[in-house]
Amino acid sequence: MALIELMQRRRSVRRYSARPVSREDVLKCLEAARLAPSACNSQPWHFIVIDEPALKDRISERIFSGLYSMNKFAGEAPVLVAVVSEKENFLASFGGQVRDTSYCLVDIGIACEHFILQAQELGIGSCWIGWFDEGALKKELKIPKNKKIDIVISLGYPAEDKIVPKQRRSTEEMSSFNKYR
Ligand SMILES: Cc1cc2nc3c(=O)[nH]c(=O)nc-3n(C[C@H](O)[C@H](O)[C@H](O)COP(=O)(O)O)c2cc1C
Repeated sequence: MALIELMQRRRSVRRYSARPVSREDVLKCLEAARLAPSACNSQPWHFIVIDEPALKDRISERIFSGLYSMNKFAGEAPVLVAVVSEKENFLASFGGQVRDTSYCLVDIGIACEHFILQAQELGIGSCWIGWFDEGALKKELKIPKNKKIDIVISLGYPAEDKIVPKQRRSTEEMSSFNKYR
């Protein structure tokens, strides 16, 4: 499938079928993430794939409750992926401080989208999840307190096959040539 068509078809999937996702397919998504570019080739990410059903259910119960219950749907996905921010290399970290920017977040965004687009190509749906109980997730996975998990990805076959029209600003509104606006 052409890349543009994949991007048109990708949507946030919030209803999943019970069909499991194979390790083989998850590994293809991880390979896509692995190939992502990053500032100074820092690769500041660690993907934790949670596909053991009892563990996944227990974690979902804890991280999508209370304040975070709007994302309970993600617990229906057969796989969750926690993306841990790792230490950037010296150059990326130094450059980021001088520029007052987080290359790490940019890098993680790219790697996650590689992961998600590869999943889409395999017919597997996903949703970015930025709203979850990070402390509970760290506790469950024994991740040190000083680490950051900005994103969880839910992964599974969509319960329904539909194409949702994208609600996006127009090209004219979001871009310009040779000047700002
Ligand atoms: C960084 C980030 C965090 C997000 N967090 C959530 C979330 O916590 N819950 C949710 O249902 N969707 C979440 N989304 C999905 C967005 O709502 C969705 O991508 C956006 O509305 C566009 O819709 P589409 O993905 O179907 O094209 C997140 C997306 C991004 C990129």
